[in-house]
Amino acid sequence: MRLLSFFLGLLFFSCTYHEIIPDCNPNEQVFSNLVQPIIENNCISCHNESSGRPAILESYEGVLNALDSYSLKERVVSHTMPPYGSPVMSQEDINIIKNWANCE
Ligand code: HEC
Repeated sequence: MRLLSFFLGLLFFSCTYHEIIPDCNPNEQVFSNLVQPIIENNCISCHNESSGRPAILESYEGVLNALDSYSLKERVVSHTMPPYGSPVMSQEDINIIKNWANCE
């Protein structure tokens, strides 16, 4: 019986734990070293303070916000950003953004 409550407790804990922390926290150092240069080359010509776009990608906070609220990762992985007509990003750069956003 004690073993059962232990497992039930564990199950409960793992479910609630997951609810409390739904997302990981993409690393800021990796952002500065690897991700920011890619964003600067491919995105901020359209996503800057003066562009009027909801996603302003000039800072770590801005990019995190776009990850959380504007599905930045999905757009990059699915090739919807940068939009049709812009230079296509290399698969390597796309993977860097994807892995960083997944905290890998
Ligand atoms: C040529 C200009 C241009 C470039 C370059 C560009 N975007 Fe966009 N982006 C847009 C436009 C226009 C929209 C709104 C239309 C839409 O949602 O498809 C948009 C929408 C978005 C959104 C949704 C929030 C918003 O501001 O509307 C995200 C997130 C985003 N882009 C990310 C990126 C990322 C990441 C890159 C670089 C890899 C990038 N974009 C490059 C023009 C651009």
